[in-house]
Amino acid sequence: MRLFTLDNRLRLCADFVRRDTTLADIGTDHAYLPIWLVSNAIVKKALACDINEGPLNSGKADVEKYNLSKKITLRLCDGLKNVKENEADDIVIAGMGGELIAKILDDCSWAKTQGKHYILQPMTKCEVLIRYLYENGFEIIKQKACVSDNKHYTVMLVQYTGKSVCVDESFYFTGKLDKKDASSKAYLEHIVSHLEKRSISDKALLPIIEKIKGECKV
Ligand SMILES: C[S@@+](CC[C@H](N)C(=O)[O-])C[C@H]1O[C@@H](n2cnc3c(N)ncnc32)[C@H](O)[C@@H]1O
Repeated sequence: MRLFTLDNRLRLCADFVRRDTTLADIGTDHAYLPIWLVSNAIVKKALACDINEGPLNSGKADVEKYNLSKKITLRLCDGLKNVKENEADDIVIAGMGGELIAKILDDCSWAKTQGKHYILQPMTKCEVLIRYLYENGFEIIKQKACVSDNKHYTVMLVQYTGKSVCVDESFYFTGKLDKKDASSKAYLEHIVSHLEKRSISDKALLPIIEKIKGECKV
């Protein structure tokens, strides 16, 4: 069976996953990411978790289609609640709102274990997620942006360090994107134009917008 190609968004998530680790993909839906990572021998095995039976069943059908049932376990699961600490090294939570991703981390009793890698791709409210991370001892190790289907996305690699790192309000919107990188610049331009619309009714955003524009020359 010929393997599919991941879109730019899921490919960026895949690029952040360490080799030879065990993956947990939370909110897996179609299970494309675990199927792709296991098929390409990047991870040894994977847990594909979803809170809803419908997506999990379509994921299961795809896992069987690619003959990967021995390496990918499908699990009905709310966030990381039914995942044990020793079951995953790298955890992907992609395609959900930033608030939900923060809640999934907050509800997980072992999330603050050193050495775990979290690959997070918020669809919305990125600033809520980054604020949660920095108020709870997590740090962004690296962050990138991409365009997929004419939409802008960012993916961050996060670890728990337990350190208290002071960041300002604009950081919650920009994170650790490399401001010289073309995809990051395009993402930040998109964020600035989104914030400019919001600032019509929320003047508190104006100094944040100016700071981002100054830092990123957008
Ligand atoms: C938009 S899809 C994203 C699928 C895939 N991760 C991606 O990025 O392409 C979101 C998926 O998350 C699942 N989901 C929502 N809340 C969840 C939760 N608390 N725990 C696990 N899965 C959840 C939904 O059922 C859905 O299949």
